[in-house]
Amino acid sequence: MDPTNFGYDVADLTAKDRDHMIHPWVDLGLVKSREPLIVVEGEGATVTDARGHRMIDGIGGMWCVNVGYGRDEIAEAIADQARRLCYFSPFGIIGTPPSIEFAHRLTQYASGDLKHVFFTTGGSTAVDSALRFVQFLNNFLGRPQKKHIITREYAYHGSTLFSASVSGKPADRGNMDLITGTIHHLPSPNPYRRPDGMSLEAFCDAKVADLENKILELGAENVACFIAEPLLASGGVIVPPPGYQRRTWEICRKHDVLYISDEVVTGFGRLGHIFASKPMFDIEPDIITCAKGLTSGYVPLGAMLVSDRLYAALTETAGKGQFFANGFTYSAHPVACAAGMANLDILERENICARVQEIGPYFRERLGELAALDMVGDVRGSHFMVCVECSADKAKKTVPPAEWEVARRIFEKCMPKGLMVRPMGHLIVLSPPLVITRAQIDETVAVLRQGIVEVADDLVREGLIKH
Ligand SMILES: Cc1ncc(COP(=O)(O)O)c(C=O)c1O
Repeated sequence: MDPTNFGYDVADLTAKDRDHMIHPWVDLGLVKSREPLIVVEGEGATVTDARGHRMIDGIGGMWCVNVGYGRDEIAEAIADQARRLCYFSPFGIIGTPPSIEFAHRLTQYASGDLKHVFFTTGGSTAVDSALRFVQFLNNFLGRPQKKHIITREYAYHGSTLFSASVSGKPADRGNMDLITGTIHHLPSPNPYRRPDGMSLEAFCDAKVADLENKILELGAENVACFIAEPLLASGGVIVPPPGYQRRTWEICRKHDVLYISDEVVTGFGRLGHIFASKPMFDIEPDIITCAKGLTSGYVPLGAMLVSDRLYAALTETAGKGQFFANGFTYSAHPVACAAGMANLDILERENICARVQEIGPYFRERLGELAALDMVGDVRGSHFMVCVECSADKAKKTVPPAEWEVARRIFEKCMPKGLMVRPMGHLIVLSPPLVITRAQIDETVAVLRQGIVEVADDLVREGLIKH
């Protein structure tokens, strides 16, 4: 074993990875020619790779390690529950103390009458369950024609057939046989891409009108729901214009269209609230979906919260031989719910939401400084959800060709300097653990700046961009 490898045989792990791992969301054709990143430890807002190289985790695992790495309290809650009762079936009227208590605690944070929790195994299954719930409800209520779903381009809602079908990132849709016909994608509400000269207010009017026009075109009696992330996360941290969320929610109310707020990323402190829908965007959705920060990624868990109104309609099924036939072996997993409880204890005790409200704007503002760089077209986001968009021609907002792999090059420049960022084509996404310190934020900005400058210099040297 190579002694520089921090106790891990990196060559052996690399060979096994290449031969046996199928990684998600990756061009499998490139796996054999590229080194896998093997992450072995985490502490606070940092992770360490198999060679012993420590980095600030600018990704937060994958928008999820909200309370940070190395929390003994969560590890112990997981171990205690696994010893006491590792698992029992959630099907039927069966519960475990952690799942019952956790459902109760979550409803204390939800706005309005979102008082009923259905646990799933992650975000995709939460979204899938929410859509199936709406479908079942309308069929049961005798309005089977009300099944059209409205969503948006550049939304990301998951990777099951249903949740992938309501997602709208063009690159993810190739060669996939998704559900069509009943799913409608509105243009993305990305202010950066609004027509030249259009004000933010006029852009907001146009995006709200897109929704209402689509409902009218389909006939409100045929539209089941609108599904929306408050900020579109994986689509490139798209922040709709001010007032958009509230106004689209009002349109839904007006036309009896259910509103599903997908808070898989925005929840559990990332924007400074356990659920951001009401306090930040003044909406009271009919359903909220969540996952990720729900357990800070320590174990998988997702949930949908359903309003009293919808839940009450479903209790009308009693004795009619119909029920919501949806659920997973690992729904409401007691170990995951125990982790979720410990995670919520930490969020509460350490006032992490208040901390994010205080320090999140600093993170956003400091990253905003990068907008002055020639290769940066836009910096957008809120609190601990930020995206730096690179541009081949800043004035024309030109997207650099995919083969330049701009974001990947920046990622590779930043890693040796102690920062991990998430590269997505020409976008760099940042969503660190919420416990990141001010000093680590400053370091993140300094390293990322350096990485972008070096890549821009390389591109000039290669004759790809002119300065
Ligand atoms: C907004 C949103 N919804 C749903 C999902 C799917 O969650 P999961 O990957 O846990 O299935 C994601 C994942 O990134 C997401 O960002």
